[in-house]
Amino acid sequence: MQCFFNKIICGFLMLLFCSGATIAMPRWYRNAVHKAEHQMLYMISQTDVNARRCFPRTIIKPDGRIQFVNDTDWTSGFFPGSLWLVYELTGNETLAKEARKFTNRLNEIQYYTKNHDVGFMMCCSYGNALRLKPESADTLVMVNAAKSLCTRFNPEIGLIRSWDSGSWNYPVIIDNMMNLELLFWASRQTLNDNFYNIAVAHADKTLENHFRENMTSYHVVSYLPNGEVESKGTHQGYSDESAWARGQAWGLYGYTMCYRFTEKADYLNVAHEIAQYIMSNLPSNKDYVPYWDYNAPDIPQAPRDASAAAITASALLELCEYTADKKLCDKYKKYAENILKQLSSNDYLAEKDTNSGFILKHSVGSLPHKIEIDVPLNYADYYFLEALLRYRQLKGF
Ligand code: GLY
Repeated sequence: MQCFFNKIICGFLMLLFCSGATIAMPRWYRNAVHKAEHQMLYMISQTDVNARRCFPRTIIKPDGRIQFVNDTDWTSGFFPGSLWLVYELTGNETLAKEARKFTNRLNEIQYYTKNHDVGFMMCCSYGNALRLKPESADTLVMVNAAKSLCTRFNPEIGLIRSWDSGSWNYPVIIDNMMNLELLFWASRQTLNDNFYNIAVAHADKTLENHFRENMTSYHVVSYLPNGEVESKGTHQGYSDESAWARGQAWGLYGYTMCYRFTEKADYLNVAHEIAQYIMSNLPSNKDYVPYWDYNAPDIPQAPRDASAAAITASALLELCEYTADKKLCDKYKKYAENILKQLSSNDYLAEKDTNSGFILKHSVGSLPHKIEIDVPLNYADYYFLEALLRYRQLKGF
């Protein structure tokens, strides 16, 4: 009898254990993943992988047509990256096959030296491919891309040049912190310190010159040939002294990622300080998606930027891992969860077969240039998915 009773308990516990993953997954989360999967399949059905411009970036208003870009656009890696991440979230093999096709369309970018964005382009596409379904050529493609990025480093100035356009002498934007991931990865992969040293030089000098007293960052800092600062200002923010929302998110994510590879306390400290600024400047209580610029003059009418929210959520979930203070870590986790819940609500998460196949609504590309205002953006989707994955890993469901 005792034995029979034990068997029942055992069976019950087994059932509980096996089905635990499903029980623990919150409904908002499951709904978000389900819709993301649907939207990516819908997007694929509208996208020709063989077209020259085959990477969906945003929509064109007012009719909502998808704006496709070619491989050299800075956002080209996000669509393949999103396909990989939804594959990781769902196990849907169709998405993995499509992710591989779109990833391979970026093959030539390994030799591209005309922008600083190859880190975004290659880490999101080939980086995820390597992690999830590697093929023999992937590593070399990534290493070559890292070499291409290094050609933009000027040792006199000590930084990687961001743009070749504009009237600046040597512009460096806070966004560029994100591209360092490719160099850190390449350094580990090849055991060549040059990649590491360039990344650290760039991160150190950005830390020196990009931040204000309150730890918000300038968008663009330009340098003279001798390495001195030429100017500090903005390109996509409201004003030279304002805190452009996505810039703050890039800084937070960038320095958290730099800490992952270097364990340098300075990087961790700046990440904590940026996080503090972001969390103290939320739009209102229970509202976690920032306006496009923290100093936008028309708040609360100003457009929101879901992309900044998604990048912030993903970064905070990583930062929590490096935070010894459990209370602070919990605070980051909770804040990220609140962002994810809000982005998963009907306010931001697109209904199936709407939003031209993008997952999230309401981001801003560049308001001062009147480009991409209140639209879906492929990088908002990418970092939303990455944050969902990190959240799942942290929660263990
Ligand atoms: N890296 C360009 C942007 O964030 O808009």
